[in-house]
Amino acid sequence: PVTVYENAELASRQVARRIAELIKKKQAHSEKTVLGLATGSTPIRMYAELVRLHREEGLNFRDVITFNLDEYYPMRPTAPQSYVTFMNEHLFDHIDIDPNNINIPNGTLAQEEIPAFCLAYERKIEELGGLDLQILGIGRTGHIGFNEPGSAPNSGTRLVTLDDLTRWDAARDFGGKENVPTKAITMGIGTIFKAREIILMAWNGKKAPIVKKAVEGEMSGEVPATYLQLSDNVEFILDQDAAADLT
Ligand code: F6R
Repeated sequence: PVTVYENAELASRQVARRIAELIKKKQAHSEKTVLGLATGSTPIRMYAELVRLHREEGLNFRDVITFNLDEYYPMRPTAPQSYVTFMNEHLFDHIDIDPNNINIPNGTLAQEEIPAFCLAYERKIEELGGLDLQILGIGRTGHIGFNEPGSAPNSGTRLVTLDDLTRWDAARDFGGKENVPTKAITMGIGTIFKAREIILMAWNGKKAPIVKKAVEGEMSGEVPATYLQLSDNVEFILDQDAAADLT
């Protein structure tokens, strides 16, 4: 299903509220909540609302375990552009999550260590009973996580090469496209698909053409987000501008 909100602020608050309800419902059953998280500009307001719910409304993250979708490779966690830094700044530094419950792909591994790391990442998710909810944004290439065009629908966590357009979109953060890493470690489309619930958020008219392809276009590896059409557990949450091209 597709839900369109008047603006990104309202939509973000709604998604944050849903996450909070999920955490509270699970806590009431003494269960942990396993969340799949995204970075980028799209979820920033949603994280801000989760921080507010923690500070002002008593939401706690003591039983929450998180797995981030991706990290650039190579990438030092302390670098300003790392997804570790992003998550700390926007969420983790402001809530009461146990640092041991935070999982983000490791951008400092030697290349030959990556396959074993990726298998362990998958295994850890499985051992915890799988992702309860996966949050996604969408790139202008149609990527989810860093699953660029050509990604297989059953792909797992792995090292990938970033699309040129994706690197252009990251150029400002790195002071030029030439400084953007050419690779990343990302959960696969298959990994994402195993989540019990998936929410893809998109704001802004710049995303309207790719949102139209993802929601209404023919399913194809050329636009990896079209694979989400196969799942009954996916919800697209859009603002009016991102939804503008939908029929
Ligand atoms: C980020 C990620 C990417 C972004 C996408 C949109 O962890 O996996 O798929 O969600 O590139 O980025 P923004 O939100 O910056 O437009």
